[in-house]
Amino acid sequence: MPQLFDKIGRTIIDWYQVYKRALPWRDTTDAYKIWISEIILQQTRVDQALGYFLRFVERFPDVKTLAEATEEEVLKHWQGLGYYSRARNLHSAAQQIVSKHRAVFPTDYAAVLALKGVGDYTAAAICSFAYNMPYAVVDGNVFRVLARVFGIETPINSSQGKKEFSLLANNLLNRENPSLHNQAIMEFGALQCTPQSPNCMECPLQSFCVAFANDVVKLLPIKTKKIVQRERFFNYLFIKKGNETFLQKRTQNDIWKNLYQFPLVETECLTEAEDLLKLPIFANKNFILKQISPVYKHVLSHQIIRARFLTIEIGDEFQGEAEGFVKTPIARLDSFPIPRLIEIFLDKNLEN
Ligand code: ADE
Ligand code: SF4
Repeated sequence: MPQLFDKIGRTIIDWYQVYKRALPWRDTTDAYKIWISEIILQQTRVDQALGYFLRFVERFPDVKTLAEATEEEVLKHWQGLGYYSRARNLHSAAQQIVSKHRAVFPTDYAAVLALKGVGDYTAAAICSFAYNMPYAVVDGNVFRVLARVFGIETPINSSQGKKEFSLLANNLLNRENPSLHNQAIMEFGALQCTPQSPNCMECPLQSFCVAFANDVVKLLPIKTKKIVQRERFFNYLFIKKGNETFLQKRTQNDIWKNLYQFPLVETECLTEAEDLLKLPIFANKNFILKQISPVYKHVLSHQIIRARFLTIEIGDEFQGEAEGFVKTPIARLDSFPIPRLIEIFLDKNLEN
């Protein structure tokens, strides 16, 4: 078995030396930059991650700069990536590093794992890539490669599966060069042994691959069915008072916490506009409903949001500040961190 493992591991590394992509976070052993890249890469694909990563580390080149920034600016650099708790966790972990580790990124696994938002995968990635420590990464790519090459049918999202794959990944790990090994197996999954169209015909692992031999490549890895998604109905009020509009900050423990949005009326089901306009904030006010947008369907990992935007012109007597709204010139909307959903609406509805 060790010999087979050695052979498979070395084959993946040899493949990597030829086919690897040049990526900026691979040119560094700066744990801070590797951390940022890994958190961004949990949110998006490599091609989109590149721009976010470069802008983020340019503005926040080190732990201290990130810790001292406002949360709002951090969120702004995250805008469009989704799952904003990751950005808030980055910010608060940076402050944690400043206060507990004198602004020096921790160098032992337990301390890295203790950072807010850092789980087993990210801790292994940081410790192996930055410090060449022997922790195997197990991300979606690694699950897939291992499930196929070794023909493992345990569901990857079961607790048994997590244990089994993690043990196997650590047994396969090249202890002389954990960093190289981890990069190589993830890249192999990303480029060669891909989810939908693995290139089995020209694969250096073909002769070892259990899934290929048994013609079950497309069936692996196995995932158990996930929970049904919650449906929500959002009615946003795009209130125009001259050149100005109103935003509210989402402060609840809910999606998009601390991002800004148009004043929101959440309903149990799709609701007629005329019923929305009976809300107390409109009572005794002069307003004209200018436009009702089509329904925007926005899919998140555990929720499906159906949103509509009501464009409303309202008279000077309307004092949104009294409702806790923030007044802003419409032309300045892009200076606030806003959910992607609202950004999509604005892209379609504001000319510039
Ligand atoms: N996906 C997650 N981490 C990655 C990395 N370091 N390089 C390429 N793709 C990745
Ligand atoms: Fe993946 Fe196919 Fe290669 Fe097996 S033969 S490792 S399934 S690409």
